[in-house]
Amino acid sequence: MYRTNTCGELRLSHAGQTVTLSGWVQKMREFGGMTFVDLRDRYGITQLVFNMETNPEQFKLAQKLGREFVVRATGIVAERSNKNPNMPTGDIEIHVDSIEILNAAETPPFTIEENSDGGDELRMKYRYLDMRRAPLQRNLMLRHRMAQSVRHYLDLQGFIEVETPVMIKSTPEGARDFVVPSRMNQGQFYALPQSPQMFKQLLMVSGYDRYMQIVKCFRDEDLRADRQPEFTQIDCEMAFVEQQDILEVFEGLTKHLFNEVLQVQFEGSFLKLPWEQAMSEYGSDKPDLRFGMKIKELVTRDTKHVTRNPEESLLPGHASRVTRFDSTGFPAFDESEYIGGIIAAGCAEYTRKQLDELTDFVKKPQIGAKGLIYVKFNMDGTIKSSVDKFFDAAALQGWAEVTGAKPGDLLLILAGKRDKTLKALGELRLEMGRQLNLMDKNKYVPLWVVDFPLVEWDEETARFYAMHHPFTAPKPEDIPMLDIDPGQVHANAYDLVINGIEIGGGSIRIHDAGLQKKMFEVLGFTDEQAEYRFGFLMNAFKYGAPPHGGIAFGFDRWVSLFAGLNSIRDVIAFPKNNQGRDVMQDSPSNLDEEQLKELGIKIS
Ligand code: AMO
Repeated sequence: MYRTNTCGELRLSHAGQTVTLSGWVQKMREFGGMTFVDLRDRYGITQLVFNMETNPEQFKLAQKLGREFVVRATGIVAERSNKNPNMPTGDIEIHVDSIEILNAAETPPFTIEENSDGGDELRMKYRYLDMRRAPLQRNLMLRHRMAQSVRHYLDLQGFIEVETPVMIKSTPEGARDFVVPSRMNQGQFYALPQSPQMFKQLLMVSGYDRYMQIVKCFRDEDLRADRQPEFTQIDCEMAFVEQQDILEVFEGLTKHLFNEVLQVQFEGSFLKLPWEQAMSEYGSDKPDLRFGMKIKELVTRDTKHVTRNPEESLLPGHASRVTRFDSTGFPAFDESEYIGGIIAAGCAEYTRKQLDELTDFVKKPQIGAKGLIYVKFNMDGTIKSSVDKFFDAAALQGWAEVTGAKPGDLLLILAGKRDKTLKALGELRLEMGRQLNLMDKNKYVPLWVVDFPLVEWDEETARFYAMHHPFTAPKPEDIPMLDIDPGQVHANAYDLVINGIEIGGGSIRIHDAGLQKKMFEVLGFTDEQAEYRFGFLMNAFKYGAPPHGGIAFGFDRWVSLFAGLNSIRDVIAFPKNNQGRDVMQDSPSNLDEEQLKELGIKIS
């Protein structure tokens, strides 16, 4: 028998019992003729004690132990004289009668404790050792708990889990595909699915009604903290539903998970924020609503976007205000399509250095603002700005009225092209949120972002791209616009956003072959291209496709949110690094000549 108990189990109530434990040696300490060993398994740590006087033989054996040795120890549970309140087993220790080394270990390349001394790359190389550490074990157990909870909830709602193929046809749209060469069909390739999108729609055509799958997806795209080349979705699809039906079911799932796993409850329904409003007020399609700091529009000369708050706006038409900007002599304003700002409450005392750092922040290439304009509304009523040369105090006071800035506040302004400036303001808002500690880790604010544009225009390739994917249905009332101005059509699509993270996204699908054909036209596919790529789906739709829609959640992102982590890497057992490499296996790797030949592939 390897063990009677686990290393996390024994308490004072077990005192006097003879037990056997097995596990890894985490740490050893010598102290006045005693050796103390921390024995670890996945359940916790228990202290073993070897006494030179009472058991010299075993004491000697204990001298031979090293870190990460695998051992079995038998002894008596005893009350500790020196209790450790920080350990669940801290009231007891085991007075060892016999110890046996099950397997010796080389000294590990880093310490395997709550906090390790190993760097990122080293821990990735020895991932199996890193995963012995409690934080990673907690993350993977959380992941397991959440997966169980999702399956249980959706099962009760009548969903069935269906596996879809991993080797599929390449239909790139969105990210790049990973491809798999075929030996039996030389020169031809499978792709790994970016998501099971088309299969789940086919399952609706087949009458399965409510489908779910916790499934691996593969995307060859630039990696970030919240992106891995292979990641996991909770993928779902439903037939005979409208948007509201889907939002209700998955709001239910979200609440269930929060309640069951984090014991967090939400009152009422989640906020639904139209995409356009999310962009104009937060500069992001995934706004973090744990704090306010909405973007205030000062001027937009972009006639396409009518402002949502005319009373707060300096739009042409509100003549008295806009004239202030008409010819200010300040080129950054006069030449800008859009001017907007955020108020950092109570930050009027920001120093020159802090403002310079913020300027550097907005000028970073990823953000791309030309510069940062600030106005300090001091507590004593004076106003100090970076544009004092161009605007007098009365004009600057006018800005306070427009934006709602109060004495003590700092107004940060960016100007430029509307879309780009809004995004930059969105980033600046998040940076200020970080600096002012407004992102409380224990607060969760979920919302649905709705009414996305159906398509996005790409200047470089001069064509429209599906904002979501080509099967997303337009809002019924916008369908006539498809022929006139596709850029103005809204999609019947929705994203679940929590604390600034896009947790999931989905849409109502096109189930009508005619409308689908129209959509392919808008996206610039010829009939032949559409037929080659998506023919099987369009064909299926000829045989009675029910109205349907669905959603997919980024499972890794959801687990990392619950674990309080910024990166999804540590909720994945064997992740890739930032270059898409598995440094433990050292993959991707070369193939030998023979294998390449069999596949009919030459490397150039
Ligand atoms: P979408 O592309 O929005 O939709 O993906 C759904 C969710 O998957 C997560 N996600 C990722 N997580 C980690 N690494 C990545 N590289 C990555 N890419 C996406 C995000 C995202 O919200 N088939 C559609 C869903 C549908 O319409 O039903 C789809 O895949 O959390």
